[in-house]
Amino acid sequence: MLPQALRVNIPEIDHEHNELFAFLEGFKEYCFDRSPMPEDRRNALYELLVSHFKTEERLAIAVSMDFSGHEEAHENMLDTVSQTLNQMASNNSDLYSLIRYIGYWFEMHILRYDLTLAKCLAISTHQ
Ligand SMILES: [Fe+2]
Repeated sequence: MLPQALRVNIPEIDHEHNELFAFLEGFKEYCFDRSPMPEDRRNALYELLVSHFKTEERLAIAVSMDFSGHEEAHENMLDTVSQTLNQMASNNSDLYSLIRYIGYWFEMHILRYDLTLAKCLAISTHQ
């Protein structure tokens, strides 16, 4: 469940953030498993991130917001996650670090970027 302080009050974004946090919780069970993370689970996480970032991009474009810095933050994060997920094809020892990285990244990212996006969206719907 998404902490209250990380809600941006744009239902579509909050819903997807919640979904991501819940998905990450489900990943923790693999930390106790010695076998590598199944490929479909790794792909599902990556696709969930890509799809969520596309949602934010679509919303930003709809209100003509400059999204370049925000988009770069998404791309850098996807690069890091993708590299780590690829390593996990043979070994999931970094899994707990990855889960913590993504959780921490989202906390910082929501406060730095998504709240600004949400403010722009809120202003444009009240105009
Ligand atoms: Fe974002």
